Amino acid sequence: MTFKDNFKVGLNGHLTLHSVDLVELCGRFGTPLFVFDENCLIENFERFKTAFEKVYPRVMVCYSIKTNNNVALCRILHERGAYAEVSSELDLYIALKAGFNGDKIIFDGPFKPESALRRALEEKVLLINVESLMEMERLNAVAGEMGIKQAIGIRINPFKDPHFSKYTNLVNLVNAAYCNLESRFGLSLEESHQAFKRALELENLSVEGIMTHPYHAAAKVLLPIIQTLQEDMGVKIKYLNIGGGFNPGNNLFVGSKDLIFDLLRRKIGLKSKLRNGRGASDIELIAKSVVGEIKQELEGSNEPSIILEPGRFLTSSAGILLVRVDHVKNAGGYKWVFVDGGNNLIPSFGAIELREVVVANKALSQSEEEVNLVGPLLYNEDFINLRVMLPKVSAGDVLSIFGCGSYSLSRSNQFLHPRPAAVLLNSTGKVKLIREKETFEDVLCKDRV
Ligand SMILES: Cc1ncc(COP(=O)(O)O)c(C=O)c1O
Repeated sequence: MTFKDNFKVGLNGHLTLHSVDLVELCGRFGTPLFVFDENCLIENFERFKTAFEKVYPRVMVCYSIKTNNNVALCRILHERGAYAEVSSELDLYIALKAGFNGDKIIFDGPFKPESALRRALEEKVLLINVESLMEMERLNAVAGEMGIKQAIGIRINPFKDPHFSKYTNLVNLVNAAYCNLESRFGLSLEESHQAFKRALELENLSVEGIMTHPYHAAAKVLLPIIQTLQEDMGVKIKYLNIGGGFNPGNNLFVGSKDLIFDLLRRKIGLKSKLRNGRGASDIELIAKSVVGEIKQELEGSNEPSIILEPGRFLTSSAGILLVRVDHVKNAGGYKWVFVDGGNNLIPSFGAIELREVVVANKALSQSEEEVNLVGPLLYNEDFINLRVMLPKVSAGDVLSIFGCGSYSLSRSNQFLHPRPAAVLLNSTGKVKLIREKETFEDVLCKDRV
């Protein structure tokens, strides 16, 4: 199910969610306004969990807290039986606030200072996925001081430098130009044997897991290591952690290359193809194929529990951002629609993410003009969608931007504007404030003169 299934249009042409008029909601809470659908969040979680449980007997779904760290939303997932994946001491603090006990928390991430490790040990977290030999030694020392034997997993990075002569495509070349930034996470395949050997020597650590992220290469990369560990070192891996990377498919990710081809198509009179790629991911098919690969490779050995770390799949479609049109302007051959929230609230993440938009107070009107939808900031990257067809919009209209549940609240910032309120709607139309709108004073409250 996508968020849009719960929407209807009222007789007045207003978009509603669970019978709540979203235009009226903006009158009550102001704009911009984040709106989350409790039903959608729960259904996304249940669908994800069931997809994997149907094909594998031991599955742990660990919600990646950084995707959306609102305590009320995290609590909903906790109450449905999710585990939590945290990536910092702040994430850990939020998970605890949301009700997760240590035995439901796994700790990931390349940056774990001693204080964070100490806190994780105090809370008796289930598993710490270490990303370097230094971290392993540090954790062993802290655990020793605290008289604890801590379960760990080791994160493996499948990156292999193909050497310059083998960079046969543009993506590889661009990655190389950026120093292959991904390669800094976890331990390399070459280091993995040494890492497990050292971990087994450390008396305050118990080696229980192996991990990689994203999930795509997990079976190929991790399973040969598991086999070798069992044969050479007698180590039985309890947790096979295949990370996240589950794209919900509702938003369209495009690179500069896609935009160039699209522009050229339009220039010669062809229709844009950009919007054709959108559609919810078939998670059941993904689960079947990933687990199928794992089972095939695991043949004959003990079957570990599979840890999954979804983030966007659970939250992305469960959130919209309501913004109000401030003014419309013609410039450079385009119509620009300025709205009161943009990149400050839904920051882009590498690739450009184009989201679907509905004019909430004209939801029955036909699209009739092409506009560029831009936010209130002072830089070029502050856009929500480009060349999007909408009904004729004017100042005061309310736009509903879909697919805003991930990396929005948790990555929003106070650049030029305080952050907005967030509300949660349930299926009976109950509205609950889950984050208050910030004031100017809130923005300044830590400043000292
Ligand atoms: C280690 C780790 N686990 C899980 C996730 C969540 O991934 P996704 O939301 O793509 O499923 C991320 C996101 O980058 C991650 O870095």
